[in-house]
Amino acid sequence: MNISGIPIAKTGSSIEVDAQTQLFAVLAGNSRSSGIYPLYNAGFKTAGYNGIYIPIDVDEDIKNTLDSLISLGFRGAGIGVPFKVAIMPYVNELVGDASRIGAINYVVFDKGRVVGGNTDGLGALKALKEKTTVSGKKVILVGAGGMAKAIMLAVSDEGGRLFITNRTPEKASDLAKRVNAQTFLPEELPREIQDAQVVINATTLGMKGIQEKMSAIPKDLLKPGLIVQDVVSVPRETQLIIDAKEKGCIVVPARRTSLWQAVLKFQPFTGIKPDGTIIAAMEKAFN
Ligand SMILES: NC(=O)c1ccc[n+]([C@@H]2O[C@H](COP(=O)([O-])OP(=O)(O)OC[C@H]3O[C@@H](n4cnc5c(N)ncnc54)[C@H](OP(=O)(O)O)[C@@H]3O)[C@@H](O)[C@H]2O)c1
Repeated sequence: MNISGIPIAKTGSSIEVDAQTQLFAVLAGNSRSSGIYPLYNAGFKTAGYNGIYIPIDVDEDIKNTLDSLISLGFRGAGIGVPFKVAIMPYVNELVGDASRIGAINYVVFDKGRVVGGNTDGLGALKALKEKTTVSGKKVILVGAGGMAKAIMLAVSDEGGRLFITNRTPEKASDLAKRVNAQTFLPEELPREIQDAQVVINATTLGMKGIQEKMSAIPKDLLKPGLIVQDVVSVPRETQLIIDAKEKGCIVVPARRTSLWQAVLKFQPFTGIKPDGTIIAAMEKAFN
């Protein structure tokens, strides 16, 4: 297991650790890329909860890391890319949406049992609902990977009218069957976007690296008042969000999803329902 430096809190703050401190980690290929781990520590502190959350880069079989955390007495862990599906065989119980999604983004260790859940879809929905209601709206979802599936289920449960498109159309069709959503081909986007109220990018387009300057929605298709959500969190402002702001759209950047998916893990981790003060502390630590 690789623990390489533990930048757990913002400069100037401190966390006291004693024998009763509950241990949490985020397990990911690059555990610091999202910058989200200090947010849990801020939440723990504000809630008066004796816990600490650290980033751990996993460069081995996820099972070995999971076993190590259990034997070290950890209480839980966030699960990041690329382990959200790979970890599933080692989970004893799935809660909430996790079994429908087929992937998890956190585990809690409960008396020797590994309990897994997934807050990605509901986190994205909560971020979207900061800007609009969803029921009855035409929602275009671009992508058919893990995040798209999680969002599809959450938006469908909320009563959104889903229209899914994906580079590989068969994957969009497979997803859509699960919730009775409609699908269309990427080249049909100019027609489908005309009467849409919401467009969500759940592809990797726009991510830092080779796809950074790319956008799932051509700028000339964006128009004032359209609600545009992106789930790509690095860089902070993706090409899609830059374009959408310039065209007068209402934007929902990925950091809102990142915040809410974390807030939704707070109660399973700690047993404490986060109130407004705790959420505000988490939000402040993330900005
Ligand atoms: N903010 C948050 O809290 C949060 C949480 C979870 C995930 N995310 C982000 O969500 C994004 C998607 O993650 P994921 O786990 O769903 O990934 P994934 O399962 O690998 O799916 C990737 C999707 O992107 C599409 N895609 C990739 N390259 C493309 C290209 N050049 N042109 C068109 N489509 C392309 C894929 O299409 P094909 O099917 O054709 O390959 C697929 O639909 C990532 O950026 C991830 O970081 C954010």
